Amino acid sequence: MKLRDFQSLVSRTEIWGAVLALTGVGVLAATAIVPEAPKANPHAADPWVLPVGEPALPEGEPAAPIRRHCALCHSYDYIATQPRLSRTGWAASVEKMRAKYGAPISTNDVPALVNYLVKNHGKE
Ligand code: HEC
Repeated sequence: MKLRDFQSLVSRTEIWGAVLALTGVGVLAATAIVPEAPKANPHAADPWVLPVGEPALPEGEPAAPIRRHCALCHSYDYIATQPRLSRTGWAASVEKMRAKYGAPISTNDVPALVNYLVKNHGKE
């Protein structure tokens, strides 16, 4: 084999090697980039069932103190589903919210809150 033939053989091998290598990279890149086709949603035909809502805080002025001072941290439902308490019990509960949990309730607002709670969730 002449030197030139050998050189041309080598260069052809390199070209094919490079082509194969690039193709391989291309295929790898293509499989890495192309995202999997989204699967059909098996629940697509299911009707939406929304959860049953919690009892809303009654509209209007009587519940306004509760809306203003208690719904800040937890739902009205959370309060309404607690065991019924006596006046002393609710007074202690409101005081606990103020003293322990830092509820921003002034002492002037406490009687209205306790009255509402006793009237609607009391056991007197
Ligand atoms: C600053 C936040 C905050 C405010 C405002 C607040 N609470 Fe609470 N309340 C809490 C936390 C915290 C708990 C305890 C929750 C737990 O134990 O998971 C709680 C629990 C309760 C409980 C359950 C019984 C108990 O003592 O743990 C009742 C009833 C209650 N609150 C009533 C009220 C009422 C009525 C008001 C309005 C006067 C009020 N809360 C305002 C934070 C607050």
